[in-house]
Amino acid sequence: MKKFYITTPIFYPNANLHLGHAYTTTVSDILARYHRLMGEKTHFLTGSDENTQKMVDAARKTGTDPMMFLDDIVKNFSVLYKRLNISYDQFIRTSDQVIHWPGAQLMWEKLSETGDIYEKEYEGLYCVGHEAFITEKDLVDGKCPDHGAIPERIREKNYFFRLSKYTEQIARKIETDELLIVPKTRKQEILSFLKQGLDDVSFSRPRRADMPQQLGIPVPGDESQTVYVWCDALANYITALGYGRGDGQMEFWPADVHVIGKDILRFHAAIWPGMLLSAGLPLPKSLLVHGFITSGGKKMSKTLGNVIDPVELLDEYGTDPVRYFLARHISTFEDGDITHEGFLEAYNANLANGLGNFAARVMTLSEKYIENIEEHIGFFSLPELKNTVVSDATQKYFKALDAYDFNAAADAIWEEIAAGDARMQKVKPFELVKLDIDKAVEELSKNFVQRLWRIAVMLEPIMPETALKLKEAIKSNKKPDNLFPRKE
Ligand code: MSP
Repeated sequence: MKKFYITTPIFYPNANLHLGHAYTTTVSDILARYHRLMGEKTHFLTGSDENTQKMVDAARKTGTDPMMFLDDIVKNFSVLYKRLNISYDQFIRTSDQVIHWPGAQLMWEKLSETGDIYEKEYEGLYCVGHEAFITEKDLVDGKCPDHGAIPERIREKNYFFRLSKYTEQIARKIETDELLIVPKTRKQEILSFLKQGLDDVSFSRPRRADMPQQLGIPVPGDESQTVYVWCDALANYITALGYGRGDGQMEFWPADVHVIGKDILRFHAAIWPGMLLSAGLPLPKSLLVHGFITSGGKKMSKTLGNVIDPVELLDEYGTDPVRYFLARHISTFEDGDITHEGFLEAYNANLANGLGNFAARVMTLSEKYIENIEEHIGFFSLPELKNTVVSDATQKYFKALDAYDFNAAADAIWEEIAAGDARMQKVKPFELVKLDIDKAVEELSKNFVQRLWRIAVMLEPIMPETALKLKEAIKSNKKPDNLFPRKE
């Protein structure tokens, strides 16, 4: 059986997830569902990145105990996932000393055995927002431009990872697509970065006195130091599968795809491959690098007051319309904009009118004119549809999902709907009804229902609840309740 292993980044639990995080997770879910429906043995991993200074700082600001603060936020993650209908198989928390720590420490030991860890006195500028050292060059007015904060100047003893050694090897794997980076523009971006040669990376920090004991993984052999949070975070993709515990077998490794945002490309396309090469493990097969969601053309931020809370949208529209919007109207590979007006317009035009209206009309005909629906309609599955490609749109749909292009996949479904609408305009079944020629109407109806089934099957990875409602309606030959009431 073909396997499919997909991961989201693990999220920082210093605040509730916003729509940008919901985006990463939703597109990952669409891929996971697609591969599951195609009959592949799928493992979908997500989680939280907990050994972080920024979380402890956030907790202190609210005057809450860090561990309680953490548990609360992580609980909210799962509430949001439920509302978005995210079908993850595993949620990893990097504070988990049973699941995660042994593997993270084993990884450290492997790098060390290879001779890739060395000690160094170091001075640098640490940006807590990035959880990384940044350089003087990166600063604007003395501040990190991404986080608007003055970085800490730090002088300390660190262990370093000899990443520089792997520059050429990593570049070759990316060039040849052995490690495929989608889209091509991101592949080019990282290749030109690699051309400058990679620097070694600081891979540990002295244990902070105010860090709870349950957080921060001790460096094997030197308890005064904790493993650098990005080193421990990246390892989650294998510790979740059993690296460093049990028999250590990792059935699902290498990952088929790590889904990430453009801001964390270097960590995933340079540091992570370097770590895996050093530890003697295979590299992931691909990275899907998406852009940022902006609001009204600007990066979402609390200061600008343009943050869109996914919960607000979910309350107003429900799960599937939100999933629909993210899949179809946010550019997969570039930055994509969202406004409340744009959402409302897309909802009314394509869900209330487009899909909802088409489904209602088809099922009105079907209910009235088709007897024994199961004799006439093939209730085919997604893989069956793939094997009997029936239209340009279906072909486009599969190609798009295989290329992680969610916009094109959703467009293909709406092409099917538009073609159905056009046909209805042409053959005018509701006028034939008045002429009392039932047989002809029945034939036309079968055709429409067959198309609606096809639409439902294609919708399933993107809008699972709607797909089920449509399938149930067809099987029981009953017009469904108003799927998407018009909104003002
Ligand atoms: N903890 C690290 C990831 C470690 S993975 C081994 C991290 N966490 S994060 O919570 O800051 O971000 C998680 C993901 O959300 C990233 O892929 C990031 O690109 C994505 N997004 C954050 N803001 C976003 C938008 N406005 N739009 C789309 N995605 C964005 O980084």
